[in-house]
Amino acid sequence: MIDEQHRRLFALAGRLTLDASANDKDEAGGEAVLADLLDYTHSHFRDEEEFMRLIQYPGLRVHQQAHASIFAGVDQLLARMRTVDRQIMRREIGYFISEWLVRHVLHDDLQYTRYIRDQVMP
Ligand SMILES: [Fe+2]
Ligand SMILES: [Fe+2]
Repeated sequence: MIDEQHRRLFALAGRLTLDASANDKDEAGGEAVLADLLDYTHSHFRDEEEFMRLIQYPGLRVHQQAHASIFAGVDQLLARMRTVDRQIMRREIGYFISEWLVRHVLHDDLQYTRYIRDQVMP
């Protein structure tokens, strides 16, 4: 289930990046995808933390902090959205997404995968 959610997150992020470069006039479309991505990220983080609680993952608290700091970054981005040029903003959003998707999913999330492999189902 978590793998599937990660795939969907990557797909939404990819669509957002594609929308941004393909059509500068389609502002409503881009914003709808961004809203979808934020919604989906929210529910994914909730499911993931629930799962970690279930398997009694010892890194849960640290992981929760990582999720919280991602959302703090999103809040800053959304606040800047009102003041900064749209073109610059899209680039920043794209960078932020690739940065946290790559870093968080491929690094932080991988740690609990290792925990499952070594401790839960050795
Ligand atoms: Fe995740
Ligand atoms: Fe995570």
